[in-house]
Amino acid sequence: MTIIVTGGAGFIGSNFIFYMLKKHPEYRIVCLDKLTYAGNLSTLKSVMKSPNFRFVKLDICDREGVYKLFEEEKPDMVVNFAAESHVDRSIENPSVFLETNILGTGVLMDGCRKYGIKRYHQVSTDEVYGDLPLDRPDLFFTEETPLHTSSPYSSSKAGADLLVLSYFRTYSLPVTISRCSNNYGPYHFPEKLIPLMIANCLNDKPLPVYGEGKNVRDWLYVEDHCKAIDLILSKGKVGEVYNVGGHNEKRNIDIVKLICKELGKSEDLITFVTDRKGHDMRYAIDPAKIHNELGWLPETKFDDGIKKTIEWYLENRDWWEEIISGEYQNYYEKMYGNR
Ligand code: NAD
Ligand code: DAU
Repeated sequence: MTIIVTGGAGFIGSNFIFYMLKKHPEYRIVCLDKLTYAGNLSTLKSVMKSPNFRFVKLDICDREGVYKLFEEEKPDMVVNFAAESHVDRSIENPSVFLETNILGTGVLMDGCRKYGIKRYHQVSTDEVYGDLPLDRPDLFFTEETPLHTSSPYSSSKAGADLLVLSYFRTYSLPVTISRCSNNYGPYHFPEKLIPLMIANCLNDKPLPVYGEGKNVRDWLYVEDHCKAIDLILSKGKVGEVYNVGGHNEKRNIDIVKLICKELGKSEDLITFVTDRKGHDMRYAIDPAKIHNELGWLPETKFDDGIKKTIEWYLENRDWWEEIISGEYQNYYEKMYGNR
């Protein structure tokens, strides 16, 4: 079994590669990644020399390069994590989101059609459903919830999902889609809420909470997401969408306070800043389908997962300090300087 994993030098993709190489040592994993600002080769150093692992620096929009790789590797499956993934960046500059997230997905699926494939899996997001009101805790996203996006990022992911489903209907390409809630864990890029707050806390810098911090996200430990995708690859039904989430809703402000507490820092570091444009209020996944049909359940409780995550950032300062010392400084100044 050869699997091409795109975006494997990023947060979830790298965790998926580690999980798959351990769980299925007989598989060959080929990581295809453009190494954008969010991709980091040092993340993959522990597997770089594994005989059943190969890294290829490539853009998923590069049709010729993608076809050449398919010809060389003859993959059985493709799992597409490659994406521009940060909502705030999509508000600043939407076009690269359309290119990578929509056009790149199309190129990968054309490669799958041309060379034949057992499965194309699209890693999507709960953000395609838009948001839920805070005063309706009884409402959840199911696979039947209409797509109703808020940001250029979520719109590009929804566009890709529709394209993937159209390749199933039109060309009978064997596709599956997972739509997961917010992940957290090791190797999470420090532009996202949890790692940004951990890094700032450790550097005694202000903790920029958007708006009033009342927005709710449904947090899932990254390894549980990886397990769900592995299960969908082996047991999922082609043409189907599976929602993945852990029934673990938290307000942003409560997450930030918890990080302060765990790191022994004062909550005085918390600074309320101008809200994100079009900020989604609440995400909440109903994972009944993947539970009932495939037997998936999240295994890591949030209290344990967040402790493990904070521990990881304490033990791996080199990894994130190198990131925040480079181009990230300009990004931070631009996004937070006058907020
Ligand atoms: P990330 O930003 O950490 O990593 C993205 C990776 O994709 C990077 O390694 C980057 O170099 C690579 N990449 C970007 N553009 C590329 C291109 N054109 N060609 C090849 N590689 C390219 O993202 P993440 O948080 O790991 O998210 C991975 C996937 O999971 C995305 O599709 C995202 O939409 C989805 N997702 C993320 C979350 C979350 O909470 N992080 C939740 C649900 C779904
Ligand atoms: O729900 C899945 C999605 O989760 C994924 O599809 C996205 O790729 C991923 O980035 C994530 O999107 P969010 O926008 O929910 O994640 P982010 O970490 O950017 O923000 C989480 C919440 O925290 C959100 O309500 C905005 C808020 N926030 C974020 C940052 C970076 C702050 O209050 N301050 C911050 O500095």
